[in-house]
Amino acid sequence: MAAIVLAVLPVTAAPAQQFDRAEPGEARPGGTATSAFAEIDANAFSHPSGNLGAARRLDFEIGNRIFGRVWEPAPSASESTDGLGPLYNARSCRRCHIRDGRGHPPASREDDAISMILLLSVPSPDADQTTPEPTYGAQLQDFAIAGHTPEGRIAVTYSERHVQLSNGETVSLRAPAYAVADAGYGPLSPGTMTSPRVANQMIGLGLLEAIDAAEIEALADPTDGDDDGISGRAARVWDGERGAQTLGRFGWKAGQPSVRAQTVAALSRDIGLSTSILPTPSGDCTEHQSECLSAPTGNTQRLGAAEVSNEALAFVLFYARNLAVPPRRNADEPDILEGKRLFHESGCAACHRPRFETLEDYPQRELAGQTIWPYTDLLLHDMGEGLADSRPEGSASGREWRTPPLWGIGLTNTVNGHTLYLHDGRARSLLEAILWHGGEAVTARQNVIDMTGEERDRLIEFVSSL
Ligand code: HEC
Ligand code: HEC
Repeated sequence: MAAIVLAVLPVTAAPAQQFDRAEPGEARPGGTATSAFAEIDANAFSHPSGNLGAARRLDFEIGNRIFGRVWEPAPSASESTDGLGPLYNARSCRRCHIRDGRGHPPASREDDAISMILLLSVPSPDADQTTPEPTYGAQLQDFAIAGHTPEGRIAVTYSERHVQLSNGETVSLRAPAYAVADAGYGPLSPGTMTSPRVANQMIGLGLLEAIDAAEIEALADPTDGDDDGISGRAARVWDGERGAQTLGRFGWKAGQPSVRAQTVAALSRDIGLSTSILPTPSGDCTEHQSECLSAPTGNTQRLGAAEVSNEALAFVLFYARNLAVPPRRNADEPDILEGKRLFHESGCAACHRPRFETLEDYPQRELAGQTIWPYTDLLLHDMGEGLADSRPEGSASGREWRTPPLWGIGLTNTVNGHTLYLHDGRARSLLEAILWHGGEAVTARQNVIDMTGEERDRLIEFVSSL
């Protein structure tokens, strides 16, 4: 053939070729950083990268303690644990990222929403941007330290809707509606937009950070040039650390560029703690919440005029980047391989990209040059009206969500004792999660509806083996 040079696809874009046996490396989705613990139990998401040396495992352990640290209001007996609030959502990282896994919506009307947050904003004067709700700020804090008023509670109500599968079976989906109950600072601004989010699972985040941004950007197809119905846009966000616009990778709408930016924001907004990067000790308090602004703070000179020192931050970041991905279960079994074929044929892999190589020269050696199997493209996709929160965030629209990684998803029940999926935990099973897909994923969803019952079981078994 003449020398027609087709666009060179990055190796990660190549679809799986064979389904009669597992591909090389597939059973260890985090490469050599995969968890070294073969036994799978409720701690399956809490192990360090399998290739860390002894000294680095010690750093991980210190980070683990900070991730689990239960913060106290200032002033307290210990400077290093005070600074909570005044308004907050939870007293430690792990209260939300339960067992380093995912959060869940409130179980009943009376239950609180500890591991779920509600982001708030109002339209801003410039075009399609939004700004925090003027009184309540960027997020509803449903707790406050003694003497302060919590902002309110997330009230969720569900209504059932039915999807008919081609074999006659019916699946019920629960469609949520959100409201703020017991609003502590008066009514919210008219037109306030809300976005509910459960805490993400914490595994493999350093590996996702070690993927070359250019490679993710190359997968984007915003105008659907290849006409497969799937576009995919790279989120653009401001990276304060670099002082530049960069690729967004973390959070349900890829609103954060790095584990560091997400962590600093969590310390501030979720727990009410200051760092040298976000030095305001009162977190998400606004000028309309004056008592909150004037409360005692835990900022101490010894900790660099912050409630969380740079040293503590570095340890918790190391921890967050090195929670290992567990090994696959049964990747070589015929039923699972059949499910994998259906996953590819149904178009799931167009967004849930199986494989990447991490950067060879990534600064943390243990995460560099790994072949990883995260099942995400880290891009934003229009997922249709059913999943829309109708609240833009940065460059993401009210209908777009970042493809979440599927690695480890089959262990949600083992680790967290539930099977609630999607950004707000509305799906009660993997099948419900798939049936909520719309927008760019509408064909993939239809393919699942059209399967025989046995094929659907195989597909779910495959996803459960990730
Ligand atoms: C109140 C609950 C809550 C607390 C406390 C909390 N998080 Fe989160 N975390 C979330 C939610 C919700 C998200 C998703 C945010 C979004 O979509 O914008 C998230 C996302 C993340 C992510 C990105 C994960 C991904 O897959 O993109 C990281 C990293 C993270 N949190 C780290 C931390 C650390 C470190 C702490 C403690 C300093 C912490 N979080 C405390 C709720 C919480
Ligand atoms: C157009 C891109 C796209 C396609 C195609 C797609 N997905 Fe998704 N998937 C997403 C996005 C984006 C989300 C997150 C949506 C949300 O949380 O609201 C998601 C969420 C999920 C979840 C829940 C993840 C979690 O952490 O809660 C599962 C499971 C899943 N997809 C499986 C599949 C399967 C199986 C297929 C094929 C039948 C498929 N997806 C096709 C983009 C896609």
